[in-house]
Amino acid sequence: MTNILIVEDEPRMRRLLEISLGEDGHMVNAVGDAETGLKSLRKDSDAVGLIITDLKLPGMNGLEFLQEARRINAGIPVVVMTAYGTVETAVEAMKAGASDYVLKPFTMAEMKLVVNKELDVQRVRDENRSLREALGHRYQFTNIIARSSKMQEVLALVERVAPTNSTVLLGGESGVGKDLIARAIHQHSRRANGPFIKLNSTAIPDTLFESELFGFEKGAFTGALASKPGKFELADKGTLFLDEIGDVPAPIQVKLLRVLQEREFERLGGTKTLKVDVRLLAATNRDLRAALEQGTFREDLYYRLNVVPIDIPPLRERKEDIPDLAAHFLARYAADNAKTIRGITPAAVEKLASYHWPGNVRQLENTIERAVALSQAQVLDANDIHLDGGQSKPSSGGSTGNAFLPEGMTLEQWEDEMIREALRRANGNKSQAARLLGLSRNALRYRLGKLGVPDEGE
Ligand SMILES: Nc1ncnc2c1ncn2[C@@H]1O[C@H](COP(=O)(O)OP(=O)(O)OP(=O)(O)O)[C@@H](O)[C@H]1O
Ligand SMILES: [Mg+2]
Repeated sequence: MTNILIVEDEPRMRRLLEISLGEDGHMVNAVGDAETGLKSLRKDSDAVGLIITDLKLPGMNGLEFLQEARRINAGIPVVVMTAYGTVETAVEAMKAGASDYVLKPFTMAEMKLVVNKELDVQRVRDENRSLREALGHRYQFTNIIARSSKMQEVLALVERVAPTNSTVLLGGESGVGKDLIARAIHQHSRRANGPFIKLNSTAIPDTLFESELFGFEKGAFTGALASKPGKFELADKGTLFLDEIGDVPAPIQVKLLRVLQEREFERLGGTKTLKVDVRLLAATNRDLRAALEQGTFREDLYYRLNVVPIDIPPLRERKEDIPDLAAHFLARYAADNAKTIRGITPAAVEKLASYHWPGNVRQLENTIERAVALSQAQVLDANDIHLDGGQSKPSSGGSTGNAFLPEGMTLEQWEDEMIREALRRANGNKSQAARLLGLSRNALRYRLGKLGVPDEGE
């Protein structure tokens, strides 16, 4: 049971919310304007578990109310209600700290979905905080090495968030373990017996994206000889993991948003609206906020996805994990190769620990795999460990000599040249060119747009 404060000027709507949330066992305090709402918040804000407010209010508007409410107590989640066609204001509200928004007109079922999700998330945060405070508890998941306190925090969050239906946005450099964590969330959820479906956005050409996600009916396009379900349908009662979410093309972002909001969609060329029960996980190895600023990623979608962010730190920031990880991979690959390698010398561990691992855990895994495959000894020594020279940090001022911009060229011109060169090397394939440059496909597209290179898709 939670105390919910509702601010809604329209009496019938106010009454409806009051009754319907009251039926769910919540204590509802429904008021007609922002000023009254603030008054009761000031009286005892700790008693309030959730605020639902309209954005369009007489007197002080909903956005101002939100900001004031957060000044009083920033720990209370706020859900805003806004009319269709004013999504921009909802996004403003999210920026100002609202937890979620509901578009009017909505059904009570939709509202309850959002309310329950908020309360779930809130519970997770609270429990997580007190768990971190409780000393001594260590999280253990099969096949996940997590000796460092940073990984312990990640696992604490995983354990708390897994049983909820909240969308999780996994962030972290390439190879830190986003896939692994996504699967762990699924395995520890109530959906563990349902499907876990993964879609890697980078691997899919733009033209096939929609049909991959939503499926298609026979005859929807040339070549659609039979109908086929999309990933959303396949993931029904389970989890859908969207990898490299930053690479989802703009038109698909809009469609994704709708599914996230309404949990329904149509197959390509289909007329029947399909409803699914899917828990969404997303991952990105880039800073999506940069993509927001460049305008290549929709803000409203970002806020929908980023309900619970889990950031997995790079390996170089949690070196305590390196010895355990090395032993873990050693055991695995020794068994795979039918070798009897018993261990690893302190010197070898030292060598691993002093490296900066730009490719993170995956690179460590590959390094150990190679060492195991090539070693003749019973114990791996430092000289069995081959660290990729090409991947190591460029020594400052060293062998690169006087590398600088070519005479008379500006940084911008040089950058443009690099982008063109990457496209040439990739034979015009934008995904590949983006990879060569370490950019997301959308970020590359944005820069190509600035260069005046036409975007004819792939
Ligand atoms: N904490 C860990 N314990 C054991 N194995 C790990 C751990 N973290 C990562 N790995 C292993 O390292 C490899 C890379 O991890 P994973 O594929 O999950 O990374 P990722 O973040 O999804 O990478 P990318 O950004 O390239 O998709 C996998 O084989 C995974 O099993
Ligand atoms: Mg991955």
